[in-house]
Amino acid sequence: MNDVRKAVLDAIHTRRSVRTYLDDPVADEDVRIILEAGRWAPSGLNNQPWRFVVVRDPTIKKQIAEQTRYREIIRNAPVIVVVFMDNEVSYDRVKDCQGIGACLQNMWLAAHALNLGAVWLGEILKNKDRVAEILMTPESLELMAVLAVGHPRHGRQSSQRKPLTDLIVKEF
Ligand SMILES: Cc1cc2nc3c(=O)[nH]c(=O)nc-3n(C[C@H](O)[C@H](O)[C@H](O)COP(=O)(O)O)c2cc1C
Repeated sequence: MNDVRKAVLDAIHTRRSVRTYLDDPVADEDVRIILEAGRWAPSGLNNQPWRFVVVRDPTIKKQIAEQTRYREIIRNAPVIVVVFMDNEVSYDRVKDCQGIGACLQNMWLAAHALNLGAVWLGEILKNKDRVAEILMTPESLELMAVLAVGHPRHGRQSSQRKPLTDLIVKEF
């Protein structure tokens, strides 16, 4: 296997949800690389509907943390990337959500490539209006997820997936 192929496939297979972090800060350059990976995600009509709010400030982070039962993850993460959809540029809700999913996966894989740990947090969406209020974002922005990022506190975790035979409905 060539190097790029191996690196990409390894990253896909070894990326895990990392929910506990060391206190060490995440370098600004690493945050930039993660955001760049998100920026290069594909989107329908190339409309790039994602918008980001980066939060390192502990006081604001604590307020965001209170909006989810996964509060400890956000409190302990040195940085969170709050990901929004800009409804002003949205042209098809399903396709735009799919694009934002690709954006989040790109950022998650980028964090993994940098030996950082990250987790995509969706449960917080139940309080999306409150999150927007705290961050004072424009009306057109709708919360899609929070990506918590930090240096992993623990080593490699395991995870499970359904076997491919349960997923392939038909092959012609
Ligand atoms: C749309 C979405 C929402 C998620 N929401 C949460 C969440 O709110 N809290 C959490 O701890 N993990 C959340 N996760 C992470 C999943 O639990 C995790 O990806 C899954 O269990 C597989 O584990 P792995 O990422 O380590 O392979 C979410 C993942 C996705 C894609």
